[in-house]
Amino acid sequence: MKLNIALLAGDGIGPEVIDQAVKVCDAVAKKFNHDLNWRPALTGASAIDAVGDPYPDETHNICATSDAVLFGAIGHPKYDNDPSAKVRPEQGLLRMRQKLGLFANVRPTFTFPSLIDKSPLKRERIEGTDLVFLRELTGGIYFGKRGRKDNGDTAYDTCTYTRKEIQRLAKKGFEMAEKRSKRLCCVDKANVLESSRLWRETVQAMEKDYPEVKVSYEFVDAVAMRLVQWPSEYDVLITENLFGDILTDEASVISGSMGLMPSASIGENISLYEPIHGSYPQAAGKDIANPLATVLSAAMLFDGFNLSEEAEAIRKVVNESLSEGIVTEDLAEGGKSYKTSEVGDWLASHI
Ligand code: IPM
Ligand code: MG
Repeated sequence: MKLNIALLAGDGIGPEVIDQAVKVCDAVAKKFNHDLNWRPALTGASAIDAVGDPYPDETHNICATSDAVLFGAIGHPKYDNDPSAKVRPEQGLLRMRQKLGLFANVRPTFTFPSLIDKSPLKRERIEGTDLVFLRELTGGIYFGKRGRKDNGDTAYDTCTYTRKEIQRLAKKGFEMAEKRSKRLCCVDKANVLESSRLWRETVQAMEKDYPEVKVSYEFVDAVAMRLVQWPSEYDVLITENLFGDILTDEASVISGSMGLMPSASIGENISLYEPIHGSYPQAAGKDIANPLATVLSAAMLFDGFNLSEEAEAIRKVVNESLSEGIVTEDLAEGGKSYKTSEVGDWLASHI
């Protein structure tokens, strides 16, 4: 298969972890006879520095005319403590999600047998955890009307959802649940929010089309609690944008490290694959960041084209690297650790 892949390394450790994913993908392409054409483009703070825009039109054109996007990380500390900054790297990410129509953010949480004791949660609580969040990504409070009034002394952000937006996300959730354990949890705040009541009503009306799927409805505050109490009780969870943002960071610690969790953002025409961690600016350029979340995101990319053997090959070498201790310093517990680039080389050569 020939694939054109837009390559958005972004900021901080983005370029280093992306390099490792490219090495691994190229090794997979060689082994399975695929032709990968990488198309680098600017995004984030580095794009602001270069052309004054975190998601330049040229980058959008490259993404929109590719088969998939592989993305590193976005963000720079110089913007974080400056609420008055006119252009922010994150705006690039949000504009990209909206312009590419990436409405469903798939964020799995699973455990690695060799890392189970790295989790801050007890082994008996997390063993067997294998859940996936489907976070709505192009609606809700992230994209609602916002502003200031009363001379700037009052601020507001609004959360709006349409039935259609909820249906297309929920459809993905039902389909995923059908292929997994047939359990779906709809996470909302329907005891307070009108938009949540529309979520619940819409998902309830879809239940009859998926008779095998057992749906539960839970409030977001309760899920925040139960997620760290009994994570293995969940399978597929669907939720709106902001709840999903918060809960997926929480879920990522179950696996023991945020440096491990991949994600996919699915659109009607194109999908984007990225690690769920941020740009980790303190580590930028030091060749110490953990590349596995990005490498596992590349595995999801192959899955996206139904190339499951290729995806499995990547997951297999990642597991081998973990059990053989070929790990970056965040996972080495003071023992021998490897550089980001060395882990990438090891993975590529073992493919
Ligand atoms: C994420 C991030 C982004 C979000 C930020 C960087 C805008 O936290 O992908 O979860 O809030 O969606
Ligand atoms: Mg987030």
